Amino acid sequence: MKTILELITDELKTAFTACEYDTDLAKVVLSNRPDLCEYQCNGAMAAAKIYHKAPIQIAEAIVANLQNSPLFETIEAVKPGFINITLKKDFVAWYLSQLSSHDAMGCDPIGEGKTVVIDYGGPNVAKPLHVGHLRAAIIGESLKRLYRFNGYNVISDVHLGDWGLQMGLIIEETHARHPELPYFDPDFQGEYPTEAPFTISDLEEIYPTASKKSKEDEVFAKAAHDATVKLQQGNPGYRALFRHILNVSIVDLKRNYANLQVDFDVWKGESDAQPYIPDMIQSLKDQGLLHESQGAMVVDVQEESDTKEVPPCIIQKSDGASLYATTDLATLVEREKLYHPDEVLYVVDKRQEMHFTQVFRTARKAGIIRPETKLTFLGFGTMNGKDGKPFKTREGGVMRLEHLIQDIDEAVFQRIMANRTVSEEEARQISQIVGLAALKYGDLSNQATKNYIFDVDRFISFEGNTGPYILYTIVRIKSILAKYQEATGCAELPTEILAAAGDSEKNLQLQLAKVNETINSSCEDIAPHRLCQYIYEVSNAFNSFYHDNKILGEEDKAKQSGWIALLILTRDILNTCITLLGFEAPEKM
Ligand code: ARG
Repeated sequence: MKTILELITDELKTAFTACEYDTDLAKVVLSNRPDLCEYQCNGAMAAAKIYHKAPIQIAEAIVANLQNSPLFETIEAVKPGFINITLKKDFVAWYLSQLSSHDAMGCDPIGEGKTVVIDYGGPNVAKPLHVGHLRAAIIGESLKRLYRFNGYNVISDVHLGDWGLQMGLIIEETHARHPELPYFDPDFQGEYPTEAPFTISDLEEIYPTASKKSKEDEVFAKAAHDATVKLQQGNPGYRALFRHILNVSIVDLKRNYANLQVDFDVWKGESDAQPYIPDMIQSLKDQGLLHESQGAMVVDVQEESDTKEVPPCIIQKSDGASLYATTDLATLVEREKLYHPDEVLYVVDKRQEMHFTQVFRTARKAGIIRPETKLTFLGFGTMNGKDGKPFKTREGGVMRLEHLIQDIDEAVFQRIMANRTVSEEEARQISQIVGLAALKYGDLSNQATKNYIFDVDRFISFEGNTGPYILYTIVRIKSILAKYQEATGCAELPTEILAAAGDSEKNLQLQLAKVNETINSSCEDIAPHRLCQYIYEVSNAFNSFYHDNKILGEEDKAKQSGWIALLILTRDILNTCITLLGFEAPEKM
């Protein structure tokens, strides 16, 4: 369905046509002077240049033509040539009734027929998730939901870091501790055990120990390197051990991501791309794209218009080993084969931007993807502590994601216990829901590319631009609706929204009317922060309306049912948006 902005623009277009001006000039935008009007059209200014007339003259002609419009309460020409618009209250109410009965909040499926692969998460197996992985998970999950809501066929891929030296280190360390295991017996013929020889806690200890050892002990370092090569060449015992490392890690990762309400359609990793590498390298060679440089095989990707150096993309080292870029290119080969995507979107730390520039350029040059396939890199900024440096534990170490979540839940719990009378058990449950919202909203409300400061006290505040404030607003609405239902005893709540009676009510209605254009544009511009800004404005508008009116005490019953219908739509819009952001509201707070 059309957005309210489109309907207003259409109305302006009829006037531009009638006055014989180009309809492209009829574009309407939100007013930047809300004290004067709600919407505005600046087309008369542009028209003045084309038609060599005074802008005010043009604006006046347009305005005169629209005096009887069923959409506008007032439309006036203001010097030097602005057209200021306020909407008729019953037009806005009519629009909201269209929205309430639409099954996707008035959003057109802009992505229908298109497939997008979203690569986010990027955890490394056998290493615990730390705060560095938080943003990838939170932003990626929200984009997945947003794209899906907008009609795209979405494949979310966790893209595990499950290849390379870390695997060799774990294998070699296991070897040192348990040389008797069959994985290390070259003559072993039987079936390898189905039970892993380590737990996740073991792995979390084995990896750092091995990593440290390799820095101090050359013999061990060489052995770990050799184990990596053997694994990559397909040694059966090492392969079996590798499957164990993977399985044990994935169980733990899934548990962690579930706590964040993040999930993935596919659990592929760097290792899945390896079979595609030989053919891909051959194709690069056949196309004459690969050449030797300082002992490595590279593809040149510098372009004339570059203002800074873009180093060649390294495909193969002199010892034949492949690199991060090789794996990402081979992953694209696989994605093209399996999903034929229209877009591949990477949600990764912005410090990896150069890597993706090199990979994207090589993929295009080599025809690994179709020319029309969009490759998008959404590089996110760092989550910093209050000191402005990357977030650390109090002791200065890397913070585990699990602990960060526990800390924020605990802080919310203390707050709830301090000023509420819910049971401790209930407070625990509520604090998990609210804690997650605080964390996710605190992150998503910032533009993804920017760094931000992680500030528990601010994030968990029930006031201001925070997750808990949004949830509090939803809980308040739910509570009014429940009380209304209890008082009236009616099973069905009213659904007809009436023309606004007061200013704060109209302002709330105008905010709600923007939901579809906001959801569509947040998706098109890959900007979940805009969705946050929107629900903050809706919440503010609702709370002013609530402040101005005694909803439950209202004597005029028709008016009261109109308000109840408005509350339902407000609740549904807020709920839809928070679901797209990746969190939910509790029943009470
Ligand atoms: N595992 C990588 C890391 O921890 C992130 C992977 C990002 N995705 C990709 N396709 N390269 O840095």
